[in-house]
Amino acid sequence: MAKIGNIDVGDFPLLLAPMEDVSDPPFRALCKEQGADIMYTEFISSEGLIRDAAKSVMKLDIYEKERPVGIQIFGANLESMLESVEIVEKSGPDIIDINFGCPVKKVVSKGAGAGILKDIDLMVSLTEAMVKHTKLPVTVKTRLGWDHDSIKIVEVAERLQDVGCQAISIHGRTRAQMYKGEADWKPIAEVKNNPRMHIPVFGNGDVDSPERALEMRDKYGLDGAMIGRASIGYPWFFREVKHYFETGEHLDPPTMLERVDAARRHLQMAIDWKGEKLGVFETRRHYTNYFKGIPHFKEYRMKMVTSDDAADVFAAFDEVEQEFDDFVFTR
Ligand SMILES: Cc1cc2nc3c(=O)[nH]c(=O)nc-3n(C[C@H](O)[C@H](O)[C@H](O)COP(=O)(O)O)c2cc1C
Repeated sequence: MAKIGNIDVGDFPLLLAPMEDVSDPPFRALCKEQGADIMYTEFISSEGLIRDAAKSVMKLDIYEKERPVGIQIFGANLESMLESVEIVEKSGPDIIDINFGCPVKKVVSKGAGAGILKDIDLMVSLTEAMVKHTKLPVTVKTRLGWDHDSIKIVEVAERLQDVGCQAISIHGRTRAQMYKGEADWKPIAEVKNNPRMHIPVFGNGDVDSPERALEMRDKYGLDGAMIGRASIGYPWFFREVKHYFETGEHLDPPTMLERVDAARRHLQMAIDWKGEKLGVFETRRHYTNYFKGIPHFKEYRMKMVTSDDAADVFAAFDEVEQEFDDFVFTR
């Protein structure tokens, strides 16, 4: 049974990965319904929070039904990070997560995200200061290292644990790899197998089938799987993994009705949360997967992803439901 601080997170929990413009409250709600055990918000800039930038502040919205939920922040400046911890606490999350893994240039160049992998002492001292500054459990999400030649994740994880980090999620790639190649789970297993480690070690990177999730549990012995891209437009991934764990069999894919219903609710929740313009825009990236496999779908998809008007997108969902009501999805 894994525990993050005092929070019982069950046996091999499935975590929804923090994903910018994806892991927002509407999408988290759908993933929770489908069995995700732990939620993380998309990353939030500590500098943005301090400046009271509306976009950063809005990302602090969390809801009772999605607990346990972690708010993820990033930054490299100690004072800003500590000040942002106080702002984050007011939203009442269960966990505060630090992003030490974002590979994007504009983040890394400021020494934040994966940028900190070049300065492990700073990574550790920043974590320690944050742990001391809050009563909430602090967790870390990171990558294997800066590049192939500087992978010291076993030592890094142990040092983070020693300063009070309560769980670590590790993406099995280096910063240099960005998203290229395959995630390597062996170094993550080495972290887990370190006899000194007692906090949960969650694996991340390329869990794209129930079989892969099982491998992460049984072959690599990790404490949980953090799932990102496989869930985009496919919140059912969580229930499929759980069903496979329980029965050894694959669940049938969601029906057309379930998909249209999820798309409708997703869009409506997004509009309610961030307004029509952004809601319509930011939900677009999910539609390809919601309706993947339907032949000659381009015309409908184009309507969904080019219209700025929510009514047109809802109309496209209605059309799809009518046109393809007897379509049977296959795995
Ligand atoms: C669109 C997108 C946005 C992401 N944003 C974040 C983020 O805000 N914070 C973070 O720690 N990782 C972020 N990531 C990385 C994911 O959390 C995850 O580590 C990565 O996608 C690998 O896992 P996967 O193979 O299951 O997708 C993002 C990934 C994607 C695809």
